[in-house]
Amino acid sequence: EDDADLAPRPAVVTVMGHVDHGKTRLLDSIRSANVTEGEAGGITQHIGAYQVPVEHEGEERRLTFIDTPGHEAFTAMRARGAKVTDIAVLVVAADDGVMPQTVEALNHAQAADVPIVVAVNKIDKEGASPEKIRGQLTEYGLVPEEYGGDTMFVDVSARNNENIDKLLEAVLLTADAALELTANPTKDARGVAIEANLDRGRGAVVTVLVQTGTLRVGDTVVVGSAHGRVRAMFDENGDTVSEATPSRPVQVLGLSSVPRAGDTFLVTEDERTARQIAEKREAAERNAQLAKRRKRITLEDFD
Ligand code: GTP
Ligand code: NA
Ligand code: MG
Repeated sequence: EDDADLAPRPAVVTVMGHVDHGKTRLLDSIRSANVTEGEAGGITQHIGAYQVPVEHEGEERRLTFIDTPGHEAFTAMRARGAKVTDIAVLVVAADDGVMPQTVEALNHAQAADVPIVVAVNKIDKEGASPEKIRGQLTEYGLVPEEYGGDTMFVDVSARNNENIDKLLEAVLLTADAALELTANPTKDARGVAIEANLDRGRGAVVTVLVQTGTLRVGDTVVVGSAHGRVRAMFDENGDTVSEATPSRPVQVLGLSSVPRAGDTFLVTEDERTARQIAEKREAAERNAQLAKRRKRITLEDFD
């Protein structure tokens, strides 16, 4: 690859943590603090991924957030070899403390070598003890900067929109310190499906994250074993877009069927090629499933 074609791209951030510690509320809070005025009633509709502008040292930067249903999707994506996350925000409720899924989430992030920023959430609540969280996480190797470690902890209240700007700042500082985030926007797009569903009127609706290249309306694509021509694309505000560059999540219409989260996508030369690749992938998957079933039958025979 030609280095001259590499351009900076936004960091892709996944929010992780124990059940009910406030991941979704935090994502809503980040988005509503940053979306432009005029969104219908200020209501944040559920979306799988979005990008927000962040003011940082006098510059406008952008961050991409992925709203996955916790670490399960993260694990599923990793199992399929998709590395989507540059940075993990680990949410820990300050009144509840480190819980089993907190530990699982940080283990996943550490195993994937993904830098972690800790959001100590719910500091508005009675009994909140941000210091206790710092102490607990230190035992797992996440040592706060103020204790001489290299992990940034930010105390937030997703409910009161408190310190959300500080959290975004910490994410950008961590990204700049730990990562060199570039991609080549000049070639055909590749990336990962973040979520997908079947919409009655619109057919397969797939949120994809572009990781390299530029995706355009009219491109033919394969996503997992789904294929088709991109009929339309929408950003997180529901506005149509004609192209998507690296780290941009977009909703794509036009696929033949519904892929799974974690499926990779690529742009092909034409529709025939897309269909052929999709059919090959489908056959490979069918064979893998048959092999699994055969194995099970063989094992049961010995019972
Ligand atoms: P799962 O997706 O089920 O794992 O939960 P989650 O981590 O996404 O938590 P969610 O955002 O759904 O929040 C759980 C509950 O905590 C909700 O009732 C939120 O309103 C509440 N909550 C989230 N953040 C805060 C906060 O900063 N302060 C207070 N007081 N409540 C919060
Ligand atoms: Na919840
Ligand atoms: Mg949630």
